[in-house]
Amino acid sequence: MKNNRVCQLLGIKYPIFQGAMAWIADGNLAGSVSKAGGLGIIAGGGMPVEILRQEIKKAKEITENPFGVNLMLMMPNIEEQIDVCIEEGVKVVTTGAGNPGVYMEKLKGAGIKVIPVVSSVALAKRMEKIGADAVVAEGLEAGGHIGEITTMALTPQIAEAVSIPVILAGGIGGGKQFLAAFALGAEGVQVGTKFIVADECTVHENYKDAIIKAKDRSTVATGSYTGHPVRVIENKLAKELLEMEKHGASVEELEAKGTGKLRLAAVDGDVKEGSVMAGQVAAMVTKRETALEIIEGLMKDLEVERERLSKYFEDVK
Ligand SMILES: Cc1cc2nc3c(=O)[nH]c(=O)nc-3n(C[C@H](O)[C@H](O)[C@H](O)COP(=O)(O)O)c2cc1C
Repeated sequence: MKNNRVCQLLGIKYPIFQGAMAWIADGNLAGSVSKAGGLGIIAGGGMPVEILRQEIKKAKEITENPFGVNLMLMMPNIEEQIDVCIEEGVKVVTTGAGNPGVYMEKLKGAGIKVIPVVSSVALAKRMEKIGADAVVAEGLEAGGHIGEITTMALTPQIAEAVSIPVILAGGIGGGKQFLAAFALGAEGVQVGTKFIVADECTVHENYKDAIIKAKDRSTVATGSYTGHPVRVIENKLAKELLEMEKHGASVEELEAKGTGKLRLAAVDGDVKEGSVMAGQVAAMVTKRETALEIIEGLMKDLEVERERLSKYFEDVK
């Protein structure tokens, strides 16, 4: 996609990001996605620096193509994580949970493209003002920690409010949604849930099975009541959390119940008591594939849908 600004900005073949996923998106997955022509992203949030360095090195062994690291800005080791990204020559950083403003000069000085994940127009505008190269606009159908606006409503508002490229995140399962992302004003997509089942993804098999089994109404958002909603597949833990919320549990009680639960599901495979974060599009994820098959499948599907629509608009002329 020669004229695509996201591809031009990052030097990638296809405007498809594999979204960072804590405890799931490691150097193996990110390297494989980047090798296939997308942008793989290592989930750095909470990773000890030496593990982060190892994962970056793993991705570099798989490909010479650019890949990214996601940094959660409120983490106590954020300064050291940034130093590791710079030392290892990481080309792209996506950011969440805070304002990257104080780190912008350092990151950009090292030639790193900075792409914050946002879920409101105001934040997107602020990020553009402080020098972000692009923004990821994430809607509430996405998996994991989410905002409060649908991708459908949020993306065009952000695309009209900023002049930097917008990457849509949330709900990408196939060509129909991929094409819709462009219609909404985005110039690329970030895909999370669909990559969980990639062969190169080292998440526990039980987690992959839960995604493949999911139906349209399988996910729920817990935590809305504390202002920090998280989209997960409904299970014993999610039901208990929602019940606690209904009965006015304190933030501390809810945090105590939820802490460590993504790891429990992703690493230990406990998909009943653990937090199985996934997007609403899990229902459309029905088979295991390689990262290359996922990327090429999305590109092929995009072309099929573009053809379908161009024929449709020919007819209605
Ligand atoms: C299990 C899981 C963990 C996630 N962890 C992170 C994270 O650590 N940092 C981040 O910025 N986004 C995180 N996300 C969001 C993804 O990067 C991505 O934006 C989202 O999954 C896209 O929506 P989709 O799930 O509908 O494809 C996570 C999503 C999932 C499903």
